[in-house]
Amino acid sequence: MKTLIINGSPKTDGNTGNLIKMLKLKGISDMLNVYDMSFSPCIDCGRCREGLCIFEDDASKLINKIDEYDNIILATPLHYNQPSGPLMCLMSRNQIIFNSKRNVKPKRGGIIVTGGGDTVINSADAEKTMRIMLKSWNTQVIAYVRSLNTGRLPSHEDSKAVEAVNIMSDIMNKA
Ligand SMILES: Cc1cc2nc3c(=O)[nH]c(=O)nc-3n(C[C@H](O)[C@H](O)[C@H](O)COP(=O)(O)O)c2cc1C
Repeated sequence: MKTLIINGSPKTDGNTGNLIKMLKLKGISDMLNVYDMSFSPCIDCGRCREGLCIFEDDASKLINKIDEYDNIILATPLHYNQPSGPLMCLMSRNQIIFNSKRNVKPKRGGIIVTGGGDTVINSADAEKTMRIMLKSWNTQVIAYVRSLNTGRLPSHEDSKAVEAVNIMSDIMNKA
């Protein structure tokens, strides 16, 4: 089993990164920090309709090897109730898959969201966006982790979120 984990936070050891670190997954796990990657956003030039992308960067490298993975976990802090900007920017490059009608291997997915605000409504829009992002990698979401109100309770002290991370690990390991 091979899992790709993408951390959409600017911090590796922030609220999002600390939950990622608690995952206990079998097999190989590759971690990418989106703020360490170098890529352009999709500029809608349309070359992907011919199966081409004008950019050769960290996003194209990742997209070209996406079928090496069985599981993909997207993790993000809420930024304006959405996934972080660089994560949105990375996922915009999946237009190459959509426009060239590329076949993508089915995968299992997980979503981790942290937010400083205090209601579940805060995370609903971001989770919907992340489900759409993962669908472009033919990835069906089977587990969620949410840690909200992190300004008052850091994610690693949020017992419900820690329990959800353990459940996510179990579900991914069994699937
Ligand atoms: C630019 C920016 C925008 C934010 N917008 C929201 C928001 O809309 N809703 C929310 O609940 N928290 C928001 N927050 C707070 C973060 O989501 C929260 O602190 C999160 O746990 C940080 O995770 P990290 O330490 O992994 O980066 C925002 C933080 C930043 C920096």
